Parts: sequence; structure tokens; C-alpha cells
Amino acid sequence: MNLTYFKRFRLELPLTGTLFACPALPCYYRLLAWDPALLDAHTEAKYRSFRGEIDAHVFPCLGEREGCRRLLDEIIRRDTFVPGATWLLAYEPPGQSVPEYCGTIQGLSDRQGYGAVQNLGVTPLHRSRGLGTVLLAQAVAGFRAAGLTRVYLEVTAQNTGAIRLYTALGFRRVRTVYRAVEVAYA
Ligand SMILES: CC(C)(COP(=O)(O)OP(=O)(O)OC[C@H]1O[C@@H](n2cnc3c(N)ncnc32)[C@H](O)[C@@H]1OP(=O)(O)O)[C@@H](O)C(=O)NCCC(=O)NCCS
Repeated sequence: MNLTYFKRFRLELPLTGTLFACPALPCYYRLLAWDPALLDAHTEAKYRSFRGEIDAHVFPCLGEREGCRRLLDEIIRRDTFVPGATWLLAYEPPGQSVPEYCGTIQGLSDRQGYGAVQNLGVTPLHRSRGLGTVLLAQAVAGFRAAGLTRVYLEVTAQNTGAIRLYTALGFRRVRTVYRAVEVAYA
């Protein structure tokens, strides 16, 4: 085993004043507020959003369905869980009898009054339609409604697409952190 260090940025957005606009949802997409009955659907959306992505190397649990489930269980059991900042996206085009769950986001709060975005993910076929922005806007509105004054998230430095999205929406880098991960070499 060897230790690999992943560089990550903490980005923050103040929740005062005017925030970025939430784009309209494209046709056949539906936002679902947090409901414990949706835990399996969140798990599936998270797993299919993160598998094979850089963050599945940084947090190996994100690359496995069971790992995603454990992570979600851990988030929703905390007393700092913010249900209003937790959203699921469903895609239901005509003729499709069961919804496809294609995006997920969860929120936690901390003692400083900050909201913490947990693992925003959109599944590959549904990206670049504004859905990541919609999920983030919903979470931000939920944090604000919960009385939080700032929101933060951590993003891996190599995840340039996600960083571009967050900075375009007004998030600013406040800190660099390193996460050590044990990597097995053949
Ligand atoms: C990061 C992630 C959530 C973004 O989701 P997304 O749904 O593609 O996000 P958006 O569509 O809102 O924005 C992405 C791009 O689409 C563009 N876009 C937004 N609406 C659009 C539309 N209607 N039509 C075309 N493009 C659009 C945005 O301008 C943005 O462009 P850019 O890449 O040049 O900056 C997604 O790529 C993902 O799940 N990645 C893997 C998991 C991950 O790394 N998550 C982040 C953890 S910190």
C-alpha cells in the first residue's frame, strides 16, 4: 500500500444578498424533496453519478453501491442533517413507466452556521443540461431556509468541470486541503 495525496479546495458562498438564479428544469425532469422512502433512489443516483469519477478514487466508498448507501445512512442519521438541502432528480419521459433517478445532493450544517454540500452528483447521460445547477440552487435555498449564513463544499483540484461550475455560481476558494488515500499497487 502507498499513500497518495489528493489536493482539494474548500469553496464558500455567502447566503446573503442575491444568489445565482435557478435554471428551469428541462422537460420530463422532476425534483423530489427529501423523504426517507427515497433512500434507495438517492443511493442509486449517487453510485451512478460517482462511479469511475475522480472522487471515487479520493473516497473509494463513492465507487461502490454499498459504500454510497453507508455514506447516506451516516449523513441522514446526524443531528446536523438538513432535509431541506437534500434533493433528488427523477427523469420520466413519456412511455417510461419507472422513473430514472439521475441526480442527488445532501446537506449538513455545522456549529458555525454554515451549510455543507455533500456529494452533488448527476449521472453521465444527464449532464450539461443545467441539472447540477438546479440541485445546487435547491440545496442553497434549503440552507437559507434553515437559517444558515454561508455554504461550503470541498472539491478535488483535478475535478475541473465541477470547479468551473461552482465558481461560475459565485463560490470562492478559501482553503486548500490534502486528503491522504491508501492506494494498492500491483
Ligand atoms: C459536477 C456535476 C454535478 C455537474 O453536473 P451537470 O448537471 O453537468 O451541471 P450543469 O449542467 O449545471 O453545468 C455543467 C455545464 O453545463 C453547462 N450547462 C448548464 N445548463 C446547460 C444547458 N441547458 N445546456 C447546455 N449546457 C448547459 C454549464 O454552463 C456548465 O458548463 P461548463 O462545464 O462549461 O462549466 C457532474 O458533472 C457530476 O456529477 N460529476 C461527477 C460527480 C462529481 O464530481 N461531483 C462533484 C463533487 S464536488
